[in-house]
Amino acid sequence: MANKSGALSVLKIQKMKESGEKIAMVTAYDYPTAQMADAAGLDVILVGDSVGTVVQGRSTTLSVTLDETIYHAEMVARAAKRALVVVDMPFPCCQLGPDEAVRACARVLKETEATAVKIEGGASRAETVRAVVEAGIPVLGHCGLAPQSVKATGGYFIQRDVDRLYADCAAIEEAGAFAIVLECVQRDYAEEVSKKLRVPTIGIGSGVGCDGQVLVFHDMFNYANKEPNETPKHARVYCDLHKLVDRGFRDYVADVKSGAFPGDTESFGPKK
Ligand code: KIV
Repeated sequence: MANKSGALSVLKIQKMKESGEKIAMVTAYDYPTAQMADAAGLDVILVGDSVGTVVQGRSTTLSVTLDETIYHAEMVARAAKRALVVVDMPFPCCQLGPDEAVRACARVLKETEATAVKIEGGASRAETVRAVVEAGIPVLGHCGLAPQSVKATGGYFIQRDVDRLYADCAAIEEAGAFAIVLECVQRDYAEEVSKKLRVPTIGIGSGVGCDGQVLVFHDMFNYANKEPNETPKHARVYCDLHKLVDRGFRDYVADVKSGAFPGDTESFGPKK
């Protein structure tokens, strides 16, 4: 599907690096959240595979399927009028080689109104990124911490090998990615690499030296966690939805039990 008129293009996102305007990105998985994010001025909305952990309640992102991804992407992309919508390719669509990856990414663009896909991985994923870009599908790279490789790495660790990080990012940039997410990279290294790359970097847990920032919706609104102090170190809580929704549920239960809900204004009397 064509890029929606009025929506930010990948070129516009790249120009933001040149002009020094920071890129603001957030995850969303449904229509109303995407609508609000879009109206509030988010530049990029990511249909993250974090849907597996924050929405489905799984311990990793590995079980998310392509069909589930398309289901969420369809709602998000329909809601966004201005923001660039990027869809995170779930494991193992892009680990199975370039042909499989092109087929899966093409399905996303064919069945949703999203503009781009995100592919996780460094230099070893460059051939796949190149094939997807050559198929006419814009790719957002993702280097640093790679949650889809958690079984191989044995956990989620801060990335502190600047030479490897730069080699990975340079390979993904060279393969044609329009920007690169840097996840959980020591902040001085993220800044150094961001300065060396031509394409923008979008950091999560990688400090202010990146060209943009991305947060997971459930972290920034404390929706997944009971207490704000359970929020990951890299996230800032902008509004405590857990507290608000918990209060609302408790008040509702109390009102139903006591008969305070519904009142006359919330029910239908005789026809006048
Ligand atoms: O799935 C996701 O939410 C992501 C972000 C952490 C960038 O990949």
